[in-house]
Amino acid sequence: MMCESRLRFHSLLFLYCVIFASSFFLMINALACSHDQIQALLQFKNEFDSHGCNQSDYFNGVLCDNTTGLVTKLQLPIGCFTGILKQNSSLFRFHHLRFLNLSHNNFTSSSLPFEFNNLKTLEVLSLSSNGFIGQVPSSFSNLTFLTHLDLSHNELTGSFQLVQNLTKLFILDLSYNHFSGNIPSSLLATPFLSRLDLRGNHLTGPVEVPNSSSPSSLEHLFLGRNHFQGQILEPISKLKTLKDLDLSFLNISYAIDLRLFSSLKYLLNLELSGNVLSATSLSSDSDIPPKLYRLMMKNCNIREVPKFLKTLKNLERLDISNNRLKGKVPGWLWSLPRLSIVNLSNNSFNGFDGSEDILRNSSVTMLDFSLNAFTGSLPILPLLIKLFSAWNNSFTGDIPLSVCNRGSLEVLDLSYNNFSGSVPQCLSKVRMVNLRKNNLQGTLPDTFYTDSLLQTLDVGYNELSGNLPRSLVNCSFLKFLSVEHNNIKDMFPFWLKVLPDLQVLNLRSNSFYGPISPPQGSLAFPELRILEISDNSFTGSLSPDYFVNWSASTSKINRDGQLYMGDYKNALYQYFYTLDLQYKGLYMEHEKVLTFYVAIDLSANGIGGKIPESIGLLTALIALNLSNNAFTGQIPMSFANVTELESLDLSGNKLSGKVPQELGTLSFLAFINVSHNQLKGEIPKGTQITGQPVSSFEGNAGLCGLPLEESCFGTNTPPIQWKRQEEDEEEEEVLNRKAVLIGYGPGLLFGLAIGHVIALYKPKWLVKIFGPNRLRNH
Ligand SMILES: *[C@@H]1O[C@H](CO)[C@@H](O)[C@H](O)[C@H]1NC(C)=O
Ligand SMILES: *[C@@H]1O[C@H](CO)[C@@H](O)[C@H](O)[C@H]1NC(C)=O
Ligand SMILES: *[C@@H]1O[C@H](CO)[C@@H](O)[C@H](O)[C@H]1NC(C)=O
Ligand SMILES: *[C@@H]1O[C@H](CO)[C@@H](O)[C@H](O)[C@H]1NC(C)=O
Ligand SMILES: *[C@@H]1O[C@H](CO)[C@@H](O)[C@H](O)[C@H]1NC(C)=O
Ligand SMILES: *[C@@H]1O[C@H](CO)[C@@H](O)[C@H](O)[C@H]1NC(C)=O
Ligand SMILES: *[C@@H]1O[C@H](CO)[C@@H](O)[C@H](O)[C@H]1NC(C)=O
Ligand SMILES: *[C@@H]1O[C@H](CO)[C@@H](O)[C@H](O)[C@H]1NC(C)=O
Ligand SMILES: *[C@@H]1O[C@H](CO)[C@@H](O)[C@H](O)[C@H]1NC(C)=O
Ligand SMILES: *[C@@H]1O[C@H](CO)[C@@H](O)[C@H](O)[C@H]1NC(C)=O
Ligand SMILES: *[C@@H]1O[C@H](CO)[C@@H](O)[C@H](O)[C@H]1NC(C)=O
Ligand SMILES: *[C@@H]1O[C@H](CO)[C@@H](O)[C@H](O)[C@H]1NC(C)=O
Repeated sequence: MMCESRLRFHSLLFLYCVIFASSFFLMINALACSHDQIQALLQFKNEFDSHGCNQSDYFNGVLCDNTTGLVTKLQLPIGCFTGILKQNSSLFRFHHLRFLNLSHNNFTSSSLPFEFNNLKTLEVLSLSSNGFIGQVPSSFSNLTFLTHLDLSHNELTGSFQLVQNLTKLFILDLSYNHFSGNIPSSLLATPFLSRLDLRGNHLTGPVEVPNSSSPSSLEHLFLGRNHFQGQILEPISKLKTLKDLDLSFLNISYAIDLRLFSSLKYLLNLELSGNVLSATSLSSDSDIPPKLYRLMMKNCNIREVPKFLKTLKNLERLDISNNRLKGKVPGWLWSLPRLSIVNLSNNSFNGFDGSEDILRNSSVTMLDFSLNAFTGSLPILPLLIKLFSAWNNSFTGDIPLSVCNRGSLEVLDLSYNNFSGSVPQCLSKVRMVNLRKNNLQGTLPDTFYTDSLLQTLDVGYNELSGNLPRSLVNCSFLKFLSVEHNNIKDMFPFWLKVLPDLQVLNLRSNSFYGPISPPQGSLAFPELRILEISDNSFTGSLSPDYFVNWSASTSKINRDGQLYMGDYKNALYQYFYTLDLQYKGLYMEHEKVLTFYVAIDLSANGIGGKIPESIGLLTALIALNLSNNAFTGQIPMSFANVTELESLDLSGNKLSGKVPQELGTLSFLAFINVSHNQLKGEIPKGTQITGQPVSSFEGNAGLCGLPLEESCFGTNTPPIQWKRQEEDEEEEEVLNRKAVLIGYGPGLLFGLAIGHVIALYKPKWLVKIFGPNRLRNH
């Protein structure tokens, strides 16, 4: 056996054989691969860190010719490999490969080896999303059998003239790299090329389309997000077979004349977002490709709804958001027979042409009116409406009852308007309801039925009174409930515990009253991650086991997954929760909250007794505010176990004893306030604490040490020497960690919003994505 014969020479290989022998021999039969090919496959795998790789998945993607036993197809699983792809890699021994897909692995900082030259029979090659750098080697021009080449989402540079020789190409995807230079003129004339994606590079123009006898067969052309300088539109207008054309965000210096596209009779999808469009072409009413079903014109600085839209009888999707459109939305828009998705967000529209009924019979299913200047009452909604957003306008009057008899409605966002009257009785069937910041009055209707689909209900900042409706227990999909800043008068809703998915409960600034502890046991809501009940009249104390079994607050969410909290997501639209997050005593509204945010805010109530040691169980907790209550006793040492804690406010209570040294070990603690208590003794050391303002410790007669001016010298003899040394070492470690943290951005130093702080120690890419929070101003 091969394993045995090699045993003497390669003890490592032997180990490999022993471990995997059984699966190999199964594979060999299943794959019809010859022994040396299997060997090469294993060697290839061994060249990388592949500990995350599923052995059987790896071999599932291998195909060998059943007569020659040679590998002809390799489709390796996502995320299997990390490491450098070397010139002498065993990969280049598979001379008979016809299909190779290594996409979504991590060959970070490898350049593409010249040795791809060895794989001359390749027909399909996908190396996308791998972190490859440098230029594409000239040897790629030898891969003349390629029909499908995908190098997208890497860091490749230089030009790509070499593709000229790849005359069999059907699909070429080089998007999201750093390619520069021109598009080779012969490329657009490649006889079979159907799909060409060059988005997100640094290509400059001009584009040339040769006068060739054989017409191009290009159907899908994506050139968006490049820096073309020269003339590119006129040549493109010769590509008569085009169906998809993406020219978004081109940064060209001249206005695009839409009439140039009149020759593209088959065009279905046109993306022009982020360009300047010529005014004359916008006001012409014909000469636009007649079959268009999708037209994207975001950020085009348009001031008038283009008249030619009238002629587009096939138009299904129209996006003219982020422009300067003003006045009334023209009535004819709603009679386009196939119109389904319309985005008018972020313009200056103030009304509707036509009667209140104008939208009713249109075919529209998703409608975004948000961030405009609409006034008056809301028109009757289209019969088929599924998603309706009108947030941030000045609509007045009642929320129309048409909201209630639209069976397909899933998302209703009327937040930040001036709606008055009562909350409609019919929200049970809608998945996402946001009525935040209006002038709604009366009680929340008690009409949530057992088959309710409600996931998000935000009625914050209105004038609602009465009880929380008990029928909310029927909303078994409810994840987010906010009634903050109303006048609701009720006891704590312990009964919501039956909701299996409730993650966020926000009762802040109402007239809730009564005990905060359930009659017996802990408050364990199964999925609760955010509990905001500050500024009410809750009383009582927290039982010792209050924080036992808060499972969601003890499990850390994978921080690489979904970024922001929100329920509703489809291909076009995503809804995020809006929350006021407190940071350094200030509440700031955040439209986006990172998914792993876990917070408890019980501040400004009348809660007394001890802070239970069980708080130490909430290991995923990021912010805790117990300020302005009547807590007594010591600060629990168990805070040492709340290692993710970034913000801790215990001010304005009656806490006594020392500030536990353990707080000094919490390396992410960016904000702590224990002022106005009855604490004494030395403030724990460590930059995190010493760096806090004096105001965080003032109002405690017995505290000393930095940052306070009162020195502990003489009052507090240091503990035995060896103990101190140990602590110093620990501190140093914390300090080092901190230095790393601070390196990620200035947020910690300048203390912006807690969102920034949360993002601080995440990988840089996350910080980039997070960016500054968009605050909804009103
Ligand atoms: C590996 O993948 C196979 C098939 O996809 C799956 O059945 C198996 O559970 C996976 N094994 C591990 C350890 O993930
Ligand atoms: C080899 O594969 C082909 C097609 O996959 C199949 O038709 C043929 O029967 C196979 N031959 C053997 C010997 O398994
Ligand atoms: C490839 O070359 C490196 C040295 O550059 C060597 O360490 C490695 O063993 C070689 N790998 C193979 C598979 O030959
Ligand atoms: C390559 O693999 C990725 C990930 O499995 C997949 O999304 C992609 O469609 C594959 N490409 C080809 C050409 O099969
Ligand atoms: C890729 O691997 C490098 C080096 O091991 C690592 O630093 C980087 O985080 C990895 N990238 C991704 C996206 O996993
Ligand atoms: C094509 O392959 C031949 C033979 O391997 C090689 O000599 C030549 O340099 C390659 N061509 C390019 C442009 O790399
Ligand atoms: C690539 O095309 C150029 C000109 O079209 C030609 O001179 C060269 O020989 C071709 N290279 C290969 C490897 O076919
Ligand atoms: C293509 O043909 C047009 C006339 O049909 C001519 O004006 C133009 O110069 C030609 N371009 C090239 C590159 O031959
Ligand atoms: C956009 O074009 C202007 C000149 O037209 C140029 O100064 C600027 O650098 C370009 N921006 C990018 C991102 O290329
Ligand atoms: C609204 O559109 C303008 C461009 O017209 C853009 O600069 C601004 O960022 C957009 N505002 C929002 C909230 O998206
Ligand atoms: C409408 O466009 C805005 C801005 O471009 C975007 O944020 C929003 O999600 C879009 N709405 C829908 C329903 O697609
Ligand atoms: C922290 O947790 C550990 C293990 O769960 C436990 O043994 C320890 O007593 C806890 N520390 C405090 C101060 O509660």
